[in-house]
Amino acid sequence: MQPVLPPGPEGLPYFGNAFQFRRDPLAFVRGAQRAFGSVATVRFAGFPVVMFFRPEHVRYFLIEQPRNFTNREVARGLRRLLGDGLLTSDGEFHRQQRRLVQPAFHKRRVESYADIMVRHTCDMLDEWQSGARIDIARAMQELTLRIVAKALFDVDLKAENAQLGQAFRQVIENPTQIPWSIASIQLDLPFTPYGKNMAGRRTLDAYVYGLITRRRAEGRDTGDVLSMLLAARDDDGAAFSDTQVRDQTMTLFAAGHETTANALAWTFYLLSEHPAVRAKLLAELHTVLAGRDPTVDDIARLPYLDWVVTESMRLYPPAWTQGRRAIEAFDLEGYTFPAGTLVLFSQWVIHRLPDVWGDPDTFRPERWDPARGESIPSGAYFPFGGGPRICIGMPFAQLEARLLLATILQRYTPQLVSGFPVVPRPRVTLRPKYGIAMTLEPAPALVPA
Ligand code: HEM
Repeated sequence: MQPVLPPGPEGLPYFGNAFQFRRDPLAFVRGAQRAFGSVATVRFAGFPVVMFFRPEHVRYFLIEQPRNFTNREVARGLRRLLGDGLLTSDGEFHRQQRRLVQPAFHKRRVESYADIMVRHTCDMLDEWQSGARIDIARAMQELTLRIVAKALFDVDLKAENAQLGQAFRQVIENPTQIPWSIASIQLDLPFTPYGKNMAGRRTLDAYVYGLITRRRAEGRDTGDVLSMLLAARDDDGAAFSDTQVRDQTMTLFAAGHETTANALAWTFYLLSEHPAVRAKLLAELHTVLAGRDPTVDDIARLPYLDWVVTESMRLYPPAWTQGRRAIEAFDLEGYTFPAGTLVLFSQWVIHRLPDVWGDPDTFRPERWDPARGESIPSGAYFPFGGGPRICIGMPFAQLEARLLLATILQRYTPQLVSGFPVVPRPRVTLRPKYGIAMTLEPAPALVPA
C-alpha cells in the first residue's frame, strides 16, 4: 500500500513537478511553502520528495536524529566529483575521516591562516585598477581558491589558478544530474554539458593526483592537510590509497572555495545596493583599522562587519538547500514516513520565513545586534548546516569572509554596473547566473563613526 504523504503542488501526469522545479527552483520551493505551510510533497516522475519548512524540522534532521538521515545517496552528482570525501560519505568511515581532518580546522590552526588570507587579497588588490570593470564573483572564486590551496595544501596556484578555477566552474555549471534535461545525456563531447563536466573533472583529477604523487615522492611533512592525509593510517595500520587521499583533497578544494566566494560576491552586491549599510561598515573599519590590514585580533572589534556577513548569508545562503534520505521510518507533522523517504529543507525558504524574520526580504544587518533582543529560534538560520555534520570549514570561512571584506573595502568600493542583471542561480551552490559586474571605485576618504 502506498504511504499517505503530505499534499503538495499539482504537477503533470508522470513528470510531476519536475518542469516547474527546473524552471525556477527558488520560486518553486518558496511558493510551495507559502501554499502548504509546514510541509509539502513534490514529485519527480513518480519519486516523492518531502520538503520541510520549519526550524524545528531542521533541528530534528540535523541535530536530534542525524543518524537516521543519510546524505550519501542524495548528492549523487556531487559524489561523482568528490568520491568518498567528507561531504559525501557516511557512518563510521565518515566519522573516522572527520576526526582525521578536524585538527586542520581547530581555532588556533585556522587563525594561523589569517596571514595567507590577507596576503593573497593584497596581491589581488595590487592588480586591481580604479575605474576597472570586473566580475566580482569570478574574482572572489579565484582568490578563495588560491587561499584554500595555500592554507590547506601548501601550493601556490598563481600559475595554475585560471585553469583550475575554470575546471571547477565547468563542473559546477554543467551538472549532469538534472532529470529531463539535455544535461543528463551522457555524450562526452566538447560542446555537451556532460562533456564539459567530464573535461573539468579530468583537469581536476590530473592536478590532484599529480599533487599527491609529488608529495609522496618528496616525503616531506609540511604540517598541512595533505601531509596529514598521507601520514594517516586506518585501524589496520594501512595507509590511505591515492583514491582516498584524492577524494578528501578534492572535497576540501571544492567545498573550501566555491561557497565562500559566493558569500563574498553576494555581500558586495548587497553593499552596493545599500549605500547606508556600506557607509556604516566603512566607518567601523576606519575607526578600528584606520586603513591598515586587518588581523585575527581585530575581528572581535568589528561587530557590524559580523552582522553584515551574517545577514548576507541569510538572504543569499551559498548552500541554499540540504537533502537527506531516511534510513528508518519516522514520524513528523502527524505523518509516518517510510524508510527511504527523501527529505529536503532549504535555507533559501527557512531564512525567509515571514513569521520568523518579520521583514524577511529586507537586508538589515542590525537584526543581529544582540542589544536589540530580536530572538531567532534555533534551526531558523543554518547557512553552515548543523549537528555532527556541521560544515567543518565554518571557522575558516567565517574568518576568511571578514578578513577579505575588511581588506578590500578599505581600498575599493565595488559598485554594481547600472542595469546589470543579477540573477541567483541555484546549483549545488547559490551563484549569480551571469556573474556580478562591478566597477572598482576607490574607497572614499573615511570619517570615523
Ligand atoms: C560561506 C562558506 C561556506 C558555507 C556556506 C558552507 C556550507 C556548508 C554546509 C551547509 C554544509 C553541510 C552539508 C550537509 O550536511 O548536507 C557543509 C559541509 C562541509 N563543508 Fe562547508 N561551507 C562553507 C565553507 C567551507 C570551507 C571554507 C570548507 C573547507 C575549507 C568547507 C568544507 C566543508 C566540508 C568538508 C563539509 C562536509 C562536512 C561533513 O559532512 O562532515 N566548507 N558546508
